[in-house]
Amino acid sequence: MEKLESFKNQLAFDFYNDKEKIKKKLDPNNENSEKKVQILFRNTIPEIPLTTSGTFSVYKYPAKFIPQVIAYVLKEYAKPGMKIFDPFAGSGTVGIVSRVYGYDYILWDLNPMIEVIHNTAVIKRIDTNPASIIRNIKNSDKEFVPNWSNIKYWFPEEFLSLLAKAWGVANSLTETDKYLLLIPLLKVSRFFSYSDEKVHKLYKSKHSKKKVEELLKVDWKSKFYLMLEKEMYILLRKIKEYNKLNPKQVNYQIRSGIDILETKLDDQVNILITSPPYLQAQEYIRSTKLELFWLGYDEAYIKELSKKEIPYRSVNEVNIYSDKYFKFREQIEEPHLKQLYDRYFNAILGSFSSLEENVKDYLFIFVGPAKIRTTSIPIDEILIEHLREFGWKHEITFIDKIVSRVMFESKINPASGVEDSRIKTEHLVVLKRDI
Ligand SMILES: C[S@@+](CC[C@H](N)C(=O)[O-])C[C@H]1O[C@@H](n2cnc3c(N)ncnc32)[C@H](O)[C@@H]1O
Repeated sequence: MEKLESFKNQLAFDFYNDKEKIKKKLDPNNENSEKKVQILFRNTIPEIPLTTSGTFSVYKYPAKFIPQVIAYVLKEYAKPGMKIFDPFAGSGTVGIVSRVYGYDYILWDLNPMIEVIHNTAVIKRIDTNPASIIRNIKNSDKEFVPNWSNIKYWFPEEFLSLLAKAWGVANSLTETDKYLLLIPLLKVSRFFSYSDEKVHKLYKSKHSKKKVEELLKVDWKSKFYLMLEKEMYILLRKIKEYNKLNPKQVNYQIRSGIDILETKLDDQVNILITSPPYLQAQEYIRSTKLELFWLGYDEAYIKELSKKEIPYRSVNEVNIYSDKYFKFREQIEEPHLKQLYDRYFNAILGSFSSLEENVKDYLFIFVGPAKIRTTSIPIDEILIEHLREFGWKHEITFIDKIVSRVMFESKINPASGVEDSRIKTEHLVVLKRDI
């Protein structure tokens, strides 16, 4: 107990120090200030003590925000009545945190997973008991089978009939009960597949084949129901925990399945806060394909979404106002890496140039200092230079250490072919509207 108290005091002390440093850096009289400050976001929000608190962690979406980053921004920069916008919202963390502090929000993402994750995370209360949902599945004769030509590659025949039954019920339930079942059922469906759940990408490994073989030798039906019930109880606990934070009734809009390069922001917002796709190796649609099929999306649609993913798609060239962009571009020799670099920056900078018009006050952009081959690319500085041209003033960059983030686990970086030194820090760039 004593240990815990002294640990908490230490954290409070570290945070206080950070606040003093930040003030100095923001002081306009301090001409020499480098405008970069180290921070450990996870220790800045006493009311959200853990990164996995409440429903901020109902689903392991790759490279998701920790809730404290958003909470920090809202507490330090937002004012009552402001509207918050995340155009690459992923699992919807920005929305889930905005509710806690009473802000309206807009979320966009190419991946339709955002709907189920967000809608599950913001449930107020559930009166249904997981045991009664399990009974409902056992007695049901409804069936749902995904429209997926490859389904037998990913699931043994034996499990498919049970999964079809459970999904038949999931698709027939009313709103709240449905959201108590969907994420637990997604997790259990993945476990009962040939995919290796230790890897985000859909991947059949030696380990996962063995897992299925072993499952088939035991009473897997009972195991399936037990796991599902347990996952629903875990979710119920998380929902309760989130509701203790007293989330407010706010207005919100979610647009999923949208391509940022073809979508215009119609409303005015005050704060844009986002973490754009990484420069390397993030394939969100491919890694959530199994889930999307069970949720009812069809093969052609999923393929279409895959083709729109940044940075693996062609993009129209835009004007780029950053010397650093051109300087680092010159250093890349291999044509395929140059193409990846160009596609990435044309997509990301092009999106921000078109969205910024409707942002009144602040841009907060969270990026990792990625590498191409062995060269670190200062994405944050390229963004600052480019957006300066549109009337945005760089206020500060927070440098956060990543303690444990859900990343793809390949050791070899597929873009460069060399061993990957994983990103160890991430930068939150703060830009204020100047004109
Ligand atoms: C780093 S993730 C965002 C994670 C999010 N901050 C969270 O807390 O879960 C980047 C997101 O960009 C999305 N994305 C990639 N290409 C896109 C496109 N063309 N249009 C819209 N979103 C896209 C991906 O689906 C992914 O969810």
